[in-house]
Formats: sequence, C-alpha cells, structure tokens
Amino acid sequence: MVNTPPSQASETQYQVENPQAEVEAIIETPDSDADIDLEFLYTRDIEFRQETIYFIVIDRFHDGNPGNNKGFNSELYDPEKKEWGKYWGGDLKGIIDKLDYLRNLGVTAIWLTPLFEQVEELFIESAAIHGYWTKDFKRLNPRFIAPDDEPSLNKTQDTRNTVFDRLIEELHKRNMKLILDIVCNHSSPDTGGSKGELYDDGVKIADFNDDKDNWYHHYGEVNNWEDEWQVQNCELCGLATFNENNIQYRNYIKSAIKQWLDRGVDALRVDTVKHMPIWFWQEFNSEMYNHKPDVFIFGEWIYSRPDDDLSVEFANNSGMTILDFGLCMALRQALGTNDEAGFYLINDVLKQDYRYNGATELITFIDNHDMHRFLTLNPDVDNLRLAVDFLMTSRGIPCLFYGTEQYLHNDTNGDNNIYGNNDPYNRPMMDTWDTETPIYWDVRKLSGLRRLNPAISMGSQWEKYITPDVFCYVRRYNGSRCFVALNRGDTVTLEEVDTELPDREHTCVLTGRKFEVKDGKIYNFELGAKEAIVISHVGERLKAQTIVRAQLNGVQTQLGERIVVIGDCPELGNWDIGKAYPLEYINPNTWFAEIPFNESAGKLISYKYVMLREGTSPLRENLLARRWVIASEGTVKWRDTWASGTES
Ligand code: NOJ
Ligand code: CA
Repeated sequence: MVNTPPSQASETQYQVENPQAEVEAIIETPDSDADIDLEFLYTRDIEFRQETIYFIVIDRFHDGNPGNNKGFNSELYDPEKKEWGKYWGGDLKGIIDKLDYLRNLGVTAIWLTPLFEQVEELFIESAAIHGYWTKDFKRLNPRFIAPDDEPSLNKTQDTRNTVFDRLIEELHKRNMKLILDIVCNHSSPDTGGSKGELYDDGVKIADFNDDKDNWYHHYGEVNNWEDEWQVQNCELCGLATFNENNIQYRNYIKSAIKQWLDRGVDALRVDTVKHMPIWFWQEFNSEMYNHKPDVFIFGEWIYSRPDDDLSVEFANNSGMTILDFGLCMALRQALGTNDEAGFYLINDVLKQDYRYNGATELITFIDNHDMHRFLTLNPDVDNLRLAVDFLMTSRGIPCLFYGTEQYLHNDTNGDNNIYGNNDPYNRPMMDTWDTETPIYWDVRKLSGLRRLNPAISMGSQWEKYITPDVFCYVRRYNGSRCFVALNRGDTVTLEEVDTELPDREHTCVLTGRKFEVKDGKIYNFELGAKEAIVISHVGERLKAQTIVRAQLNGVQTQLGERIVVIGDCPELGNWDIGKAYPLEYINPNTWFAEIPFNESAGKLISYKYVMLREGTSPLRENLLARRWVIASEGTVKWRDTWASGTES
C-alpha cells in the first residue's frame, strides 16, 4: 500500500512493504540469540535496512551453462581462465544453481554487475566482462543467458521466459531480492574505431562518432578532478558520456530501467553518480519511485566521505542513499593494514553520521571489484572475520563481495595500498563452496540477527569502550539492544563494560559463551585474541495495521530535549501534547520512530513535530501541519525535515 501525499507533502521516499509476517515473526521468535530460526525470519517484505547484500561479478561466480560461453565473439572467451580480461563463463544459470548456497549463508539480496548487452571488443586488453560498457540497455548480455534466450533470436522485452525471468522467480521463491546495477552516465569506450554505439532493443539510436542528435558530451577526458563541471561533463577513462540535457536520452534510459523493474527487479545500484548533475538523479529517482514505489536505490559516489560536502549533499538530496566508502576505507586501515589508530579510525567516521540524513541506510562494505580484496591487504583471516562481524552489526546495510566467505583472493600485483585498484585480480573465479567456514557461519547468524533485532538495522550506535585494538558498542532501538565487542589484539580483560542489556545471563550469538550482566554491565569481561562477541536482546515489537517509520532530520537538540509527533488522530494524541508519540534519538541529526496506526489507517491526517524541553514550554514546528493519507495497511516511511520552531 502506498501512502498518498496530498499536495503539501513531506520529503518522503515511498517504501511499500507488508510487515505483517515480519512483525509476527519477530514477536514470536524467542529472544535468543544462540538459536535463531532463520527460516522463520525470511520474508521479502523486510525493511531494506534488514537486508544482507551479496555482490556478484556474474562472469566470475559460476558457469551454469557452458553453451553460452563463446557469445557473439569467441575470441573474448578464455576457457583456461588465464587471461583475466576475458570472459570465463559465469552466468545467470550459475547464480540460480547457487541460490540455496547463498540463502543458507544468510544473503537476502544479490547485487549483480550490469547484465545488459555489452560491446564485443577488447579495450586495453579487456572485454566488458564487468558490464559497464553497454551497447543496449534493453537487452541482456548473451553470455549470461541461454543461447536461445534474447537477444540472439531477436526476442525483445516482451519475452518473459528467459533465464533472467527464472532467476527473478527463483529469488522471489526464496524471499530474496535482486539488485540491478545500472549505468546512466556512459555507454562504451572506443573499441576498434567505434565508440558509444547505442541500441534500443536492437535498433541503433546513437553513435558518439556521428552524434547528430547530441546524445553525448564531447568535452574530452576529465583532467582536473577538483573541477565539478569537468567531473560531471567530461569523460571517465574514455567512456562515451551521455548528455543528460537531451530529453531523448533521458526517456531512453528511464524506459529501459523501468522495463527491468517491471520484470521483477527489486532495487538498483547506480554507477558513477558523481559524474552527473544532481537534478538528473532527482528526476530519475522520482520517476523510478513513481513507477515502482518500493524500489530501493543506492549509488556509487566513489570515495564518498562524511567530511566531503558534495558526497553528503548527494546522499541527502538526490533521492538515493550511497555506498559508504568513508567507512570502508577506515575499516581497511584499521583491520586491513593494521593502522596503529585501529578502531579510532572507524569510530571517527561513525561520529560524523549526523552529516547524513540516513546513516542507517548507507551501504557498508570492506572491498569490491574496484579495489584490492581485503585479504590482499592482509591475509589474516581473523581480521577479515572481525571486519565482517563489524559490518553485520554496525549501522548501515552490509554488502559482501562474492567469495569473502570462502577467503577468495588473488594477490597478483597486490600491495598494501588501501586505495589501490588491483582490477582484474580482485575478480577471481569463485572455486570453493564450503558451507562450514567460520565467516560463512558468522554471516549466517548475524544476517538472521539483522532481521530479528531492530536495534541493529534501525537503531543508534553507542561507543562503550574503545582503544586501537578493542571496540565495544551498543546498538539501541526502543526496548531492543545489541552489544558487540571486537578485539583485534591479544587477550584482554576489561574491568567492566556497559552493555545496556537486561540483568541476567546472556549467550553470545557467535561463540556460545555465557555472560552474566549485572547493573547492565559485564564485569571482568575477558575478550580473547581476535575475538568477536555479539549479544542480542529483542524488546517488544509493534503490531499494527499500518506502521509509519517516521524519520526527522535537521533538528538540533540539547541534553534533556526530546522530539515527539502530535496530530489530529488518536494515534498522535489528537493534538494533546501529553499524548504525543515519542521519537527516538539516533544521532544529532536524526530522530526516528515506528508509529502504529489502526484507527486512522487509510485516512487523511495532519501532524507536526514538537520539541519537548525541560523546564520550559514545548517548541512546535512553525508550519501549517503536514498532511498525509495513511496507507490502509503495510509499512511506509515519512522523511521529514524539522521546520524551525515557534514557542507555544
Ligand atoms: C564504477 C564501477 O564500479 C567500475 O567497475 C566501472 O569500471 C566504473 N564505474 C565505470 O563504469
Ligand atoms: Ca556460461
């Protein structure tokens, strides 16, 4: 169900879910910990922040159909898997074959490298195995599908029985989601004299070298990365760069992506977002949300950082969240290259969460196809495990690069540079499928916990103890808590550490170790070398016909000040401030609450936020009340920004 905004709408990204199954599962699932019933928690209707993402380079995952390996140009295929720039055979059937492996790992959403039809030539000794040199955004790369699927038999988007459709079906059958990687910034580089030849379901529509209709920018390569105009208009690595001012181009790319959404794609990962102006993304995203209201979208702003104004501005105003490169680099320094500042580096990034409107929605990761694999930085598998355990329990939505759980890495040309790009050696063929590795098990357990415990997916993060080697933190939301302790060094004993857990004996989800909590603390807390401890406590969850996840940004509160929401309906106290609904502090820029609606589900309501201050009168927002039609069922989001207050 969609919340329908009346004319004066708050800044809201629609999110349509049916939380019933989720909420019931959470209420009935026992508050532990060691024994999470994963099956019970699998539902496609989960909030995206509860997902565990797994990123796959399709060609390097699994060859499920050797019949498609040669594609249109057999020269680009290397059956020996020695030439790293050539295709090695992975395909969509291979992914279908491994879906049970992935689901068992706890993966709930897979992000696939772009699967559109690519140029079939080598460029700097590399074929487009990665999928970022598109020829036709409406067709699939023939190497990833079945030989008689589109487009070789000239089937079009109307065809609905391809291996792609089967992949979606098989994913959805398992309550898993598909994230499609899309590229709006560019098509292809110069291969054999042709550049940017673009097709619309088989019909040629543009050509960089014969650009009568101005589909492309022609300003040459970016040479000053500090110049925003150049970054947005010039070329990246010789790739033909689309001219977003051309409405034909915009209609083409939007219609192409909508077709994939219609075929069942659940979410989008968007390439090179810093290379196009924000207005393009705002227009593009609103159109995607109108077309498929519950689509989740995140972008790649390369090397985004919380202290980089442009990337933060993009995350806050473009309509999509972003991949969290800032946290990734801190993790790589702290646990990859063992920087002496250790966990302080990570904490310094978290301390800047207030710069984002939605820090809990950032996509977190430790490596990807554009940088050295973590194990190439540091072959210590215990450090890798600590990094993964952090990702799975910290704020943000974790994304694992394929093979992490199998310790997959190839160190050719490896070095210890956290920014280094050892493409293509970071894209080895997945070759083992061991379901008993320690990381496989950690991910499995913690992915279940992300769905079980809302403090992990939506809550605030509180530092409890920190040194370069030891980091203890609590995730907190409503009555739920998750206490995490990570130790990169030798065994230590902490005299006491605050856990915020209820007083009783608790069991660590990962190790099964038992801990007595008294006054909310663990005394004489012994943490083994390279050990990770995770203790979860799930409070009572909401049950309602409609749940509104209300997020308020931009309000500066001092100690003792609280935010509530009041409105003209019983759920919001009928304007009686004594009955207003409380929001919870997430960080200095974000207050959040899940608000249950029963009586007013399906009705038009008015509301505004109020700051309650000790010893003085409440400060109400200074605006005509916000108005909203509450969905008749399901879960929806309000994204509001505090309107300056007026004394009352
Ligand atoms: C970022 C992608 O992740 C990278 O692999 C690709 O080469 C560039 N964008 C260009 O599309
Ligand atoms: Ca194949």
